[in-house]
Amino acid sequence: MEMSQEALELKSYFQSYGQGHVFDYFEQLNADQKDQLIEQLKGIHLEELDGLIQTHVLKTEATGGMDYTQLSPSNYIPYPTNDETQALWDEAEVIGKQAIKGGRVAAFTVAGGQGTRLGFDGPKGTFEIAPISRKSLFEVFADKISRASERFETRIPWFIMTSQLNHQATIELFKDHAFFGFDPESIHFFSQELIPSVNLQGKIILEEQGKIAMAPNGHGGSLRALSKSGSIERMREQGIDILSYFQVDNPMISCIDPTFVGFHVMNQSELSSKMVAKTYASEKVGLFCNYKGRDMIVEYSDLPQSYQEQLAPDGALLYNAGNVAVHLFDRDFIERLGNESSEEKLAFHKAFKKIPYYDGEKGMLQTEQNNGVKFEMFVFDALPKANHSIIVEGLREDTFSPVKNAEGVDSPQSCKDAMSRQALRWLNKVEAQVNSDPSDETIVTVEMNFRFAMDESDFIDQWNKLETKPEIKDGCIIGE
Ligand code: UTP
Repeated sequence: MEMSQEALELKSYFQSYGQGHVFDYFEQLNADQKDQLIEQLKGIHLEELDGLIQTHVLKTEATGGMDYTQLSPSNYIPYPTNDETQALWDEAEVIGKQAIKGGRVAAFTVAGGQGTRLGFDGPKGTFEIAPISRKSLFEVFADKISRASERFETRIPWFIMTSQLNHQATIELFKDHAFFGFDPESIHFFSQELIPSVNLQGKIILEEQGKIAMAPNGHGGSLRALSKSGSIERMREQGIDILSYFQVDNPMISCIDPTFVGFHVMNQSELSSKMVAKTYASEKVGLFCNYKGRDMIVEYSDLPQSYQEQLAPDGALLYNAGNVAVHLFDRDFIERLGNESSEEKLAFHKAFKKIPYYDGEKGMLQTEQNNGVKFEMFVFDALPKANHSIIVEGLREDTFSPVKNAEGVDSPQSCKDAMSRQALRWLNKVEAQVNSDPSDETIVTVEMNFRFAMDESDFIDQWNKLETKPEIKDGCIIGE
């Protein structure tokens, strides 16, 4: 059968960039498969991809490294330790509450990743994480944002970025759970773009005869996706100018943090970030550093060991500010960077990966070695582009315990433990009696219902309002 005009045009377009092989098996596809491949190919921006292939895959000279003499630790607003610093934090809280009550703040979850390390079949946000109720990551966030709306007497919208690979499954979960009590009108789903993976010779990889191997373009793709999806426009219409960014795999996050918002507003910040203190010198976490006068994140793998180990005069680590991917974005700043033709758009990075591929003779193959390159943008690359940015210290135990791996460090178990410990800590603040058998050396597991209290100060208020205080024992959910 003859190729359609559309297919012929696409083929010559792909051939003009040396990618005509994506049509090698076209004649062996049935009509549906042909249509699907054509749809996929139509969505590929070959000019951009070709630029990435030329600079990241085919070019071999090394780019200039960093001049470490120009590097210093970033300044940050430290967690309050005395009355004076506490007064500043209290002031920020008041200002932040006003901004939230005034409807200026929306929540934003990036959930477009593939979660390969966790090895969970389905969108990561659907992973059950609450230690007792087994609520999913999405439901934990839904509870926290709903409680923030109630507490601040407003309606906080929630933007959720998926990718085309998990969009449908994500929406179905929300529908199956009646949007976790959220007003469906206040949840806005949109997908980030996918970008083809290429082999080490720069050729687009086919994962099946009629299917290109595509991957989401990184969490930095969220800035583009917010612009392209009309979310920025929607924010503007609703008077929202602050977006509270967090990642789907970290349920410890305070989704709407009034003090953080307050500091953002007070400093007219375009991009505010939370840091947590590193626990040991070689911890694998990106670090906030100042380079040539601008804040930026330096990946742990890019910072020489001697710098990682340097000590400040007080004996603490000099490069101490760990990045936990918790930010507040100014709407206009996102718009500036999210525009694809902007000079300030985020750059892509490359990552070598093992990518299953279709071989003409052997069919579909898995590989043991890195055979391809994925391209990703990183959201923290926005930091040096901000004219005003601030970094605020957060307590790790109230900020960060991500679910990355199936076991061990940053796993479901370590996160569940952290959630339970957080609830116990909050209970300790109100001197609640926790009934456990003293001879039992295992840790008591409790769970906070975040629909009841969204953070520590909220919990203290809510607890004090309870006429009868519940008995707290192993296995209980507080605020049910
Ligand atoms: P990670 O960098 O941990 O990647 O994402 P991941 O895809 O979830 O997991 P691995 O590396 O395959 O195991 C951190 C956050 O950024 C989001 C993820 O959904 C997660 O919330 N993300 C990542 C995106 O939204 N899009 C992407 O393209 C990549």
